Amino acid sequence: MANSKTTGSTMSTGAPAPSDRNSLTVGPDGPILLHDVHFLEQMAHFNREKVPERQPHAKGSGAFGVFETTDDVSAYTRAALFQQGTSTEMLARFSTVAGEAGSPDTWRDVRGFSLKFYTSEGNYDLVGNNTPVFFVRDPMKFPHFIRSQKRLADSGLRDNHMQWDFWTSNPETAHQVTYLMGERGLPRTWRHMNGYGSHTYMWVNAKGERFWVKYHFHTQQSMAFFTNAEAATMAGTDADFHRRDLFEAIARGEHPQWILSVQIMPYADAKTYRINPFDLTKTWSHRDYPLIRVGTMTLNRNPENFFAQIEQAAFSPGNTVPGIGLSPDKMLLGRAFAYNDAQRNRIGTNFNQLPVNQPKVPVNTYQFDGQMTYTHSGNAPTYAPNSGGRPWADETGPVADGWETDGEMVRSAYTLRAEDDDFTQPGTLVRKVFNDAQRTALIDQVAGSLLGGVRSPVLERAFDYWKSIDPDVGARIEQKVRAGSGG
Ligand code: HEM
Repeated sequence: MANSKTTGSTMSTGAPAPSDRNSLTVGPDGPILLHDVHFLEQMAHFNREKVPERQPHAKGSGAFGVFETTDDVSAYTRAALFQQGTSTEMLARFSTVAGEAGSPDTWRDVRGFSLKFYTSEGNYDLVGNNTPVFFVRDPMKFPHFIRSQKRLADSGLRDNHMQWDFWTSNPETAHQVTYLMGERGLPRTWRHMNGYGSHTYMWVNAKGERFWVKYHFHTQQSMAFFTNAEAATMAGTDADFHRRDLFEAIARGEHPQWILSVQIMPYADAKTYRINPFDLTKTWSHRDYPLIRVGTMTLNRNPENFFAQIEQAAFSPGNTVPGIGLSPDKMLLGRAFAYNDAQRNRIGTNFNQLPVNQPKVPVNTYQFDGQMTYTHSGNAPTYAPNSGGRPWADETGPVADGWETDGEMVRSAYTLRAEDDDFTQPGTLVRKVFNDAQRTALIDQVAGSLLGGVRSPVLERAFDYWKSIDPDVGARIEQKVRAGSGG
């Protein structure tokens, strides 16, 4: 910062700061004076340095990069960022779910995989995880789920009993819990994990044809994991290991890459597919809907300031652009509200005006004033419609990214289809995807977790839960727990 004294600092007003060492007192040993404005401003600003941490996904970090669309997917979407040959600046943030802002990176958990694309049609966010499914399928359950994974009300401690109580009382968690208890619960680094949009989204092409889409980001560093012992050691020796790994790799010029492929489901298939394709606890068979390559994501630039560019980054699954829409996935629809609201509380009403969140395209919003207004519309009319010449939007009729709904307002679970039970897909995962060693590690992990304070009747429910996923795996877990060994 320029200053009249080349060695000095300034106050936030730009005027020279009198001293960063000595407060103003009556004599060297006397009381401090109230008109030491510089001192008071330092203290007052310090008291406001922290903003609330994210409710879930508090611990994380990220980097900037570029997304390059290498393949032609224009038959499915007209979104500008996904037109072949387009390069789009972007930001990624990776995180754990349950831990607080200072918690170790290597605690067993699902990892967040948040992306913000600064596209030529506005910001597009994809806020997913390192697993293709989730624990629950109705947003009403989400706050309960998160609280069960956080801390006990009295002691403030994490608690396995509480976690398993929630999971076993909600059998739709089985698929994601199998992923969590398997290798994906302990990624070696963020560079070595895949990312998924997880939800089903909608793509719309230039002709207005609609498709359902699932996103898969495959790491080009190959997947790699920690063992329990490695992760525990790392949690104690370098709680910020994942944050450090990403930052240092990029600083060394090793720019991690992921290939984005999508599964595309024709719009009409959704009605008749053998599972509900909007159920977030399910995957779509790759045989039915093979991967179609879209492009490459490369992270190549570290943040210059963690707080300004990572902590204040605001992602929302509701931030879409033309050619991309939401879907009837209830979780996704619940999320479409939650994030911006959290950010208004966490960072302030005008969080989208912060440089990291600002779109790279001109903004003409009728959102007006509010705390910390920085960009503004001068003396343009603040209302629409207006005769002052300020453009306003006037879409009417059916919307391009909408879908048909069927009927009455109800509170109900999804209608079940032929293969919509909770245990088939996790059963396939443990039997057909996991090899013997991975299956044994899973059994050890679950037994170890259950031995960490899980009590009756949750314990018996946990045995039944695993026997429903796979009778043999369940029996082996029970045997180990009864014998008192695992983990
Ligand atoms: C109804 C369900 C859900 C609700 C209400 C919800 C709510 C939230 C909230 C309030 C935040 C903090 C946002 C902030 O302060 O900036 C958050 C963060 C996050 N959530 Fe969710 N969430 C839900 C489901 C999910 C699902 C299904 C996924 C992944 C598939 C997910 C992934 C994430 C990620 C990655 C972050 C961190 C965002 C970042 O990096 O800043 N959430 N969620």
